[in-house]
Amino acid sequence: MAAIQPLLELRGVSKHFHGGGIFKQGRKVQATKEITLSLAAKECLGLVGESGSGKSTLGRIILGIEKPDRGEVLFQGVNLYGKDRSGIREVRRDLQVVFQDCFSSVNPRRTAGESIAEPLRNFARLSYHDELRTVGNLLELVGLDVEDAAKYPHQFSGGQLQRVCIARAISLRPKLIVLDEAVSSLDVLVQAQILDLLSDLREELGMSYIFISHDLAAVAHLSDRLAVMCSGEIVERLDNMDDIHCLTHPVSLALLAAVLPAQPEYRNKQETGAGKFAAAARTS
Ligand SMILES: Nc1ncnc2c1ncn2[C@@H]1O[C@H](COP(=O)(O)OP(=O)(O)OP(=O)(O)O)[C@@H](O)[C@H]1O
Ligand SMILES: [Mg+2]
Repeated sequence: MAAIQPLLELRGVSKHFHGGGIFKQGRKVQATKEITLSLAAKECLGLVGESGSGKSTLGRIILGIEKPDRGEVLFQGVNLYGKDRSGIREVRRDLQVVFQDCFSSVNPRRTAGESIAEPLRNFARLSYHDELRTVGNLLELVGLDVEDAAKYPHQFSGGQLQRVCIARAISLRPKLIVLDEAVSSLDVLVQAQILDLLSDLREELGMSYIFISHDLAAVAHLSDRLAVMCSGEIVERLDNMDDIHCLTHPVSLALLAAVLPAQPEYRNKQETGAGKFAAAARTS
């Protein structure tokens, strides 16, 4: 029987940067080192680690916009950095991203409707009326109103604008979305709402996520599996988020400690990880 092909596969992916200076004489930074991982369709992989551990670099490599020095990135079987460029444009439309700072992710002079329509204009040739209808449907799908299409970014709250960015990311019904600190700048109640929205959309549209965050609680709320990064390497993995209390690497323990409540008697599974957001959702 043929093995099922993963949606995404990274094989020995390494990337370094030069620390700076006009002659690139600065310190060499190994941003990712020999990263191997795979992701199945409809799966969410949480990627955590301290600042500078290489999460965003790995996210950009997965998106096909940061060429690694070594290794292969296969998305739906297509090597994103291979010599054969045919098929790259087609797979690129299945790869989307949502960043932390929604206000700098959109053009301040464009309405929400125009921002959401941008990928549709690049990849799908829709009539004016079909585009309007599609944008309206997308706004409703992310919990906004059809009339919001006419608003400019400054007329939205941070949480609402992040919904606009999510609507844009899902407009082409991608197979994979890289969420790079996508909820980190929002307050905990809005974070809980956006995490629930992302969870519902994944169910409804059958997408996969790479969920990058330094917040283990947010990751536990959304992810099926976990990879912990330190100095460009994956130092610990979990295949089942229920085992979150079995983490042993010092970086994992530091991230876990950051989401544990102060009183030891409350340090059980309910009050960490997904529990924090479940509690926030209950009070919202
Ligand atoms: N374009 C670049 N030029 C030089 N160095 C870079 C570049 N991009 C990233 N780096 C370096 O690579 C390392 C990994 O950076 P990266 O942004 O991937 O970390 P991160 O885990 O996303 O951090 P954070 O949690 O702060 O977002 C850092 O040391 C960073 O300074
Ligand atoms: Mg980052």
